[in-house]
Amino acid sequence: MSADGARTSALLRPVTLGALSLRNGVIMAPMTRSRAGPGDVPGALAVAYYGARASAGMIITEGTQPSAHGKGYARTPGLYSAEQLAGWQRVTEAVHAAGGTIVLQMMHVGRIASRLNKDADARTVAPSAVRASGRIFTDAAGLVEFDTPLELSVEGIRDTIGEYAQSARAAQLAGFDGVELHAASGYLPMQFLSTGTNLRRDAYGGTLAKRLRFVIEVLETLAEVWGADRVGLRICPGNPFNDMRDEDPVGTYTALLGAVSAMDLAYLHVIRSPLTSIDAFALARACFPGPRILNDGFDFASGNAALDSGAAAAVSYARNFIANPDLVERYARGLPLAAFDRRTLYTPGAEGYTSYPPYAG
Ligand SMILES: Cc1cc2nc3c(=O)[nH]c(=O)nc-3n(C[C@H](O)[C@H](O)[C@H](O)COP(=O)(O)O)c2cc1C
Repeated sequence: MSADGARTSALLRPVTLGALSLRNGVIMAPMTRSRAGPGDVPGALAVAYYGARASAGMIITEGTQPSAHGKGYARTPGLYSAEQLAGWQRVTEAVHAAGGTIVLQMMHVGRIASRLNKDADARTVAPSAVRASGRIFTDAAGLVEFDTPLELSVEGIRDTIGEYAQSARAAQLAGFDGVELHAASGYLPMQFLSTGTNLRRDAYGGTLAKRLRFVIEVLETLAEVWGADRVGLRICPGNPFNDMRDEDPVGTYTALLGAVSAMDLAYLHVIRSPLTSIDAFALARACFPGPRILNDGFDFASGNAALDSGAAAAVSYARNFIANPDLVERYARGLPLAAFDRRTLYTPGAEGYTSYPPYAG
């Protein structure tokens, strides 16, 4: 495509998602990069990393735990302590100084955790005490089995929703533009939604409506703090990643989107997984009338096509942003993309994180 043609592409035009006004539709998808410092605080490297990517229409941060209990992986940042808040404040300032928009992805991993990655007094919790099969990396002992989670009591569920609320308030103080609830990838919200991980027979499980309740209550809580038009929801219907199973994912997500449609959320962020035959994009289009961000495996041409067809308001890109901080400019000018190094995706330090320069040709 010529440079002139690219400049008029749908992806490069401003987009509105609820109360969020974006300068283009190229969203940076959330990516865990495991660079947080002691106390799970995002440091100077995170400021440089996100600041360099501020030309994205919107940055969705790496998954960030709303409490110590919500952590599962090594070196992921939190947003519940004063030090974490101060760290994130420096990140949002850098992104805003460059004219960008940034929302916090709230990620409570539930059972996808090792206690070796957590504070000593933090617990691994889930809707039911069902251990995920598989292993997780820890700095202390390499790959280890997932923890067997403790089943949350109803009071524990209320406390967990309270943790989301507190972290959402901290996100406001830290200067974010909104929050996204991570309800994909087999983490706590998806554990509540799915029949394989939610064996409860109380107000939070046993029927489809009760399995939806946790996600709906968390979203209502986030909307109380932020206004629904600054709250996004991320889903990946039917994805088996992290040992997830559901008897009827189409039924589950049809009902979920029906229930959340009336909330007027800022956006729905839908991942299409190659590991399931479910057409998540068609399901989202049929069941969610608000703005939709689509994800997984897009390039510039297919992203533009998704906007032109009306399937998407915006498209998110994860891997392409790793080695291309100036991805939007590369797309606009038809420049080649750099490749990233897998070995440094989750390693501490600048290498493979802030070491990728903008285009220099
Ligand atoms: C290194 C890495 C870390 C990721 N971490 C997260 C995360 O914290 N939260 C999340 O919702 N998705 C996460 N994802 C998934 C991406 O957001 C995205 O859905 C996936 O990479 C597909 O998009 P792409 O084809 O543009 O890379 C991660 C992906 C990668 C490659």
